[in-house]
Amino acid sequence: MEQTRLEDLVFKPSEEFVAQANIKKEMYDEANSDYIAWWAKQAAELVTFFKPYKQVLDDSNPPFYRWFTGGTFNVSYNCLDRHYNSDKRNKAALCYESEVGKKVIMTYRELYVEVNKFASALKKLGVKKGDRVNMYMPMIPEQAVAMLACARIGAIHSIVFGGFSADSLADRINDATAKWLITADGNWRKGAAFNLKANADAALEKTTTVEKVIVVKNTGQDGINMVEGRDVWYHDIMAGADKYCPCEEMEADAPLFLLYTSGSTGKPKGIQHSTAGYLTYTCSTLKYVFDLKETDVFWCTADIGWITGHSYVIYAPLALGMTTFMYDGTIDYPDKDRMWDMAERWGVTVFYTAPTAIRTYMKWGSSYPDKHDLSQLRILGTVGEPINPEAWMWYYKTIGKERCQIMDTWWQTETGGFMCTPTPVVPLKPGTATIPFPGVFVDVIDDNRQPTNRGYLVVKKPWPGMLMTIYGDNDRYKATYWGKFGDIYLAGDSAIKDEMGYIWVIGRIDDVLNVSGHRLGTAEIESALVECQEVAEAAVIGKKHDVKGEAPVAFVILKDGYSGSPELIDKLKKHVGVKIGPIARPDSILFTGALPKTRSGKIMRRLLKDIAEGRAIGDVTTLADPGAMQDIAGKYGKDED
Ligand code: PRX
Repeated sequence: MEQTRLEDLVFKPSEEFVAQANIKKEMYDEANSDYIAWWAKQAAELVTFFKPYKQVLDDSNPPFYRWFTGGTFNVSYNCLDRHYNSDKRNKAALCYESEVGKKVIMTYRELYVEVNKFASALKKLGVKKGDRVNMYMPMIPEQAVAMLACARIGAIHSIVFGGFSADSLADRINDATAKWLITADGNWRKGAAFNLKANADAALEKTTTVEKVIVVKNTGQDGINMVEGRDVWYHDIMAGADKYCPCEEMEADAPLFLLYTSGSTGKPKGIQHSTAGYLTYTCSTLKYVFDLKETDVFWCTADIGWITGHSYVIYAPLALGMTTFMYDGTIDYPDKDRMWDMAERWGVTVFYTAPTAIRTYMKWGSSYPDKHDLSQLRILGTVGEPINPEAWMWYYKTIGKERCQIMDTWWQTETGGFMCTPTPVVPLKPGTATIPFPGVFVDVIDDNRQPTNRGYLVVKKPWPGMLMTIYGDNDRYKATYWGKFGDIYLAGDSAIKDEMGYIWVIGRIDDVLNVSGHRLGTAEIESALVECQEVAEAAVIGKKHDVKGEAPVAFVILKDGYSGSPELIDKLKKHVGVKIGPIARPDSILFTGALPKTRSGKIMRRLLKDIAEGRAIGDVTTLADPGAMQDIAGKYGKDED
């Protein structure tokens, strides 16, 4: 008997589930026949303007599309004041648990008070509308407070994931020319306190712009260095802060935040997002995809330092008046059931995580989730990389008990929110992000702009959550996303469109890796490697990995006079970890005498990937030195570590 492939299975949502859903099937037609009217309706239903906008979409200066122009708006007002002045005032807004068991529940009223105080404290420190404020923090409630406080006074936050190194932080501070940094003494990792402030201090040695550092006492560990005149404790400035800080009336298309992401060059891009368009988009997608209801407890496990954390841990859940849960810590401390234990204890109803985490839980086995009552879960979600059908099935059966739909959401830092995703009315297939969200025109096209079943993943019309530009680099914005097709957004992914019209994301078309759902440029890792005195040249590729999706593998040519050794491998790996962050550390490094290059000098990473993944080597006819490949292939698997 022929066996059905997992990816061919179709899971239809139950009639009861469809009937109770926020989304209705008709909405797809409604949105796609007049997307301008659809987004206007979304804004009218989900957000509040101070002054009404004049135009839904200003497309007079492409590709600098602007949404809801002429209106004034404040994101903090939308996330807090609206609920403070309603019967949601005493509802839990933010629930938090730390690795060492500290629990915080902040109601909308309490969060409002904290944000007002911190916003006035920031003003006292000189922060003004349009200023950039950097953050380098653990997943603590103060991070949410700081974001909303910036939004309140119109300052632009730029958050750097706490797992990034001091150098990465310094680069991002310098690019944003931020004068303020908000950080913490430390964070917990497997029960031990990590000194985050020391990393921040090291970064500050490489920046000249920061004048004030605000430090949250989180772990309370000893030995925190506070620089006189520069560093202040969060609790000290909060103690004397005014209790009310008015919301700045911002232009609807003013920038809300910058978030840096890797590109195909060594320099990360500061993705700039807007206020009203961004909030409308994230609210609409969250409401309809995860079907949030008044009584839901939404847990998006992403770190706030990534776009998923910005959009779906903080901004959209709060603007919708929901309860959002956040956890700061490792997923297996004190044991491998930590996540399921919390899901049970906090009554989580909607759970959104990444394939890399799902594959890790799968490896640990179902006994860990099975210890807990997960019957409160209604909906599951995944994001960050393609999910393999086996992991999808495990998630569906073991966590969702075949009751919960899995929302596989494809999107990017640049898109602000979900683009291609199921909703409660869409039948699922394991491993695909299914169809575009209503009013979003994602498609798969070929070089001639024609629809195809395998090609470039693109977006054909603007959408409210789209990036505004790359901070300080309009040319790079134009070249990266609009350079190929002009009026069509190039996402940088390749995809397949199947006979049901479902979109299957295959991977990146540029030199970008996806390690555990995190984007890393091969060029960033390569330039870290060539900083080491022994290294003449380096090429980095992503090799398929069971848990991480992709793992960095480096091919390195040493300078004359140096020879490869296990110690050197160790040193190079460490250096990448220090330079960029632990996620960028190569899994293995191979020393080689040559790299496959075209006659124009471009490294053919595709061929290196073939070798690393054990495939027959592809076409080598364009290589300057075809023999180089045999050399590397012969070595691979013997010498690498
Ligand atoms: O390659 C796609 C992959 O992650 C990239 C975006 O990365 P980043 O900007 O860091 O944002 C991650 C969180 C939104 C995409 O270009 N990706 C993201 N979600 C999916 C995905 N690939 C396949 N399926 C997904 N659901």
